[in-house]
Amino acid sequence: MISPKNILITGASGLVGQPLCKALKARGHAVRRLSRSERGDFQWDVTAGQLDPAAVQDVDVVIHLAGESVAQRWSDEAKARILSSRVESTKLLVGAILQQEERPAFISASGISFYGIDRERLVDESSATGKGFLAEVTRQWEGAAQPLTDAGVRTAFFRTGIVLSTKGGALAKMLTPFKMGVGGRIGDGQQKMSWISLPDLVAAYVFAVENETVRGAVNAVAPKPVTNQVFTKTLGKVLGRPTIFPLPAGVIKALFGEMGKETVLSDLGVIPQTLSDLGFEWQQPELEGALNETIT
Ligand SMILES: NC(=O)c1ccc[n+]([C@@H]2O[C@H](COP(=O)([O-])OP(=O)(O)OC[C@H]3O[C@@H](n4cnc5c(N)ncnc54)[C@H](OP(=O)(O)O)[C@@H]3O)[C@@H](O)[C@H]2O)c1
Repeated sequence: MISPKNILITGASGLVGQPLCKALKARGHAVRRLSRSERGDFQWDVTAGQLDPAAVQDVDVVIHLAGESVAQRWSDEAKARILSSRVESTKLLVGAILQQEERPAFISASGISFYGIDRERLVDESSATGKGFLAEVTRQWEGAAQPLTDAGVRTAFFRTGIVLSTKGGALAKMLTPFKMGVGGRIGDGQQKMSWISLPDLVAAYVFAVENETVRGAVNAVAPKPVTNQVFTKTLGKVLGRPTIFPLPAGVIKALFGEMGKETVLSDLGVIPQTLSDLGFEWQQPELEGALNETIT
């Protein structure tokens, strides 16, 4: 028997938030959405440091997904928004949670970029952080919740890999050229890609809501990272299209600059040790099945 929980979720209107709200409701949980817009049940203005205090009252779990999109050219202003939308929003939530008599658990999105841009060996949650702008963002994002951990509140940080979806993210951008038959590996194709299907990511969040043992760093990826070459071949197979047009790394750098280097060209093989140890079961542990489920 699952005990129904009251859940506050930020970024509920996003790629992950929408199916997560549905899944939580389907499990009998009560969900309230905290948004910058009227679409939410409660509102906040992160830039102005304002949060409706009623949003956090009588809540069992806060899930924090909100943040400025990373998929844009990284001007100085964009980088400032990417960082502050995550760090300042976390600080606002932390302040509100600490004021509650019964403090809700705090489950936050984070990214595998915590481990840097390129790692020769596979990494798990015990691995050290790495270099790059996004690594700095994730460190500060997770670090902003430290007062909660210090106060004994259950906190968990979902270091999320490449989420497979046709509605947004890396796969959605790859689909058009691949469907046209002009897709191919990027650079030498040897860079590792750590991915997760959207339904598995949603299920992992639900698992974390319902299992108090989920704490600390959680790598939200499938068990087997693949090289870009394997990802390319598998995507071509699923779409029934050739993948003979490699895209030179220099083109990605020219088109997307620093953002391209830290996302599309990054080389990170991440192992989900925490989820495996806690008994989480992936519905799509293999890339081909996950792509089939996502695309067809
Ligand atoms: N999708 C991925 O591949 C991936 C990979 C690694 C990590 N993540 C992280 O997981 C989280 C959820 O991802 P997602 O793909 O669902 O994100 P998303 O679709 O971009 O949605 C994020 C939500 O955050 C809110 N938001 C956007 N800009 C904001 C700003 N400047 N200040 C405050 N709130 C803002 C919006 O909600 P409202 O309009 O309702 O306020 C938006 O719906 C993100 O923090 C993301 O960085 C995602």
